[in-house]
Amino acid sequence: MKKFQSIKGTKDLLPEDTILWREVEMAIHNFMQLYGYGEIRTPVFEQTELFARGIGEGTDIVSKEMYSWIDQGGTNLTLKPELTAPVVRSYIQHNLSGKSPINRLYYIDSLFRRERPQKGRLRQFHQFGIEAIGSEYPEQDAEVISMAYKIYEMFGVDELVVKINSIGSPEIRQPYLQALRESLESHSDKLCKTCQSRLGKNALRLFDCKSESCKGVLDKFAVTIDTLLTEEDKKHFQSVLKYLDAMKIPYIHDIKLVRGLDYYTRTTFEIASRKLGAQDALCGGGRYDKLVEEFGGKPTPAIGFAAGIERLFIALDIDDTNKPLPLTDVYFVALGDEAVKVAFEIAEKLRLEKGIAVTVETLQRSMKAQMREANRNNAQFAFIIGDNEIAANKIIVKTMKSGEQQEVPIDKIDELFSTEHDCNCSDC
Ligand code: HAM
Repeated sequence: MKKFQSIKGTKDLLPEDTILWREVEMAIHNFMQLYGYGEIRTPVFEQTELFARGIGEGTDIVSKEMYSWIDQGGTNLTLKPELTAPVVRSYIQHNLSGKSPINRLYYIDSLFRRERPQKGRLRQFHQFGIEAIGSEYPEQDAEVISMAYKIYEMFGVDELVVKINSIGSPEIRQPYLQALRESLESHSDKLCKTCQSRLGKNALRLFDCKSESCKGVLDKFAVTIDTLLTEEDKKHFQSVLKYLDAMKIPYIHDIKLVRGLDYYTRTTFEIASRKLGAQDALCGGGRYDKLVEEFGGKPTPAIGFAAGIERLFIALDIDDTNKPLPLTDVYFVALGDEAVKVAFEIAEKLRLEKGIAVTVETLQRSMKAQMREANRNNAQFAFIIGDNEIAANKIIVKTMKSGEQQEVPIDKIDELFSTEHDCNCSDC
């Protein structure tokens, strides 16, 4: 019989994983609220054209990594590989600019890219991120970059490196591409096939190539974008750096940081941790001052970042050996039909009225097996009930840690938790 497996590059999150995921997600929600960002959720798929136009035809994502298909109605659809384009689509569709000149949005979501799976690189992965739409000013850049930095600090990730650059305003893109092409033309025979073809189409994408020999050619011969920045671009970038200095955010100016998506203008940045090795980018972002207009909205500047959650876990050194177990407060050891009925009733009351986590036996196992299960569930108490206890209107309550046992009348059982309860559930 065929046994099904999850698709390569995708992962199941089991209960011991989801405890941690929930904690991380809650911390992100709380953090975002402190900065006045509101959560946005967009559909899992969009029109393919949204990504092709937004991210750029020549990028790795659009040219080879998207999960796309034509549905029964003939519409070309794609599972979202990133969230900036969908958020901008939604911003325009719902006329968010009419509600406020600045919209601060955040998300936590699943994304899909058909990349070669390896540690920290999946085909379904998760990001949290923000998009601040409406301000062209450098203080907005500083807010966004500092939030990315501070959230890693909050999670206790160390050895952080912030790389930052300016790729200038859209007006310098064409002159720069021209200059870049000219600087590399006489060395194109040393470039890989993909880079050779990109040289003519979108030379900026040469910087995405992973081949060491191509990187060597670029290091040696490629003209860098800083040489073409306008005075306004330089002033904007210097102001961003000044704000970062004032906020004590350390950074490295990396003149080759152009990022792998076409929509960027001016500020680009990435945060890495030396702990991550080859997949060292924890997060990346930048300005995209032309995207709203490109999608048919009013010209509106914007900046954001997105961060890989799986990479955050790697940076935090969380692996299979140090995951917490799912916990319960009470394991109800119920022996016989009548006992199960009573257990269900009491369990429901405790959950609703006291917020106590209760698990009721549903496998009709022996007393010994049920007690083992109570242990496995890390329960604080085992409640034992059978025909004798029902007849006496009592429950045997065993405190798992001490092994102490007492009989408690059924109508007094909730008094066990009447003081501030010291349960061991993860939410308290
Ligand atoms: P990105 O650099 O493509 O940017 O992705 C951001 C982060 O997502 C990466 O730094 C990495 O942590 C994580 N990531 C990307 N691909 C994978 C993968 N295959 N497996 C695991 N993690 C991955 C964007 O997505 C832009 N939308 C960011 C942005 C927002 N720019 C402006 N606003």
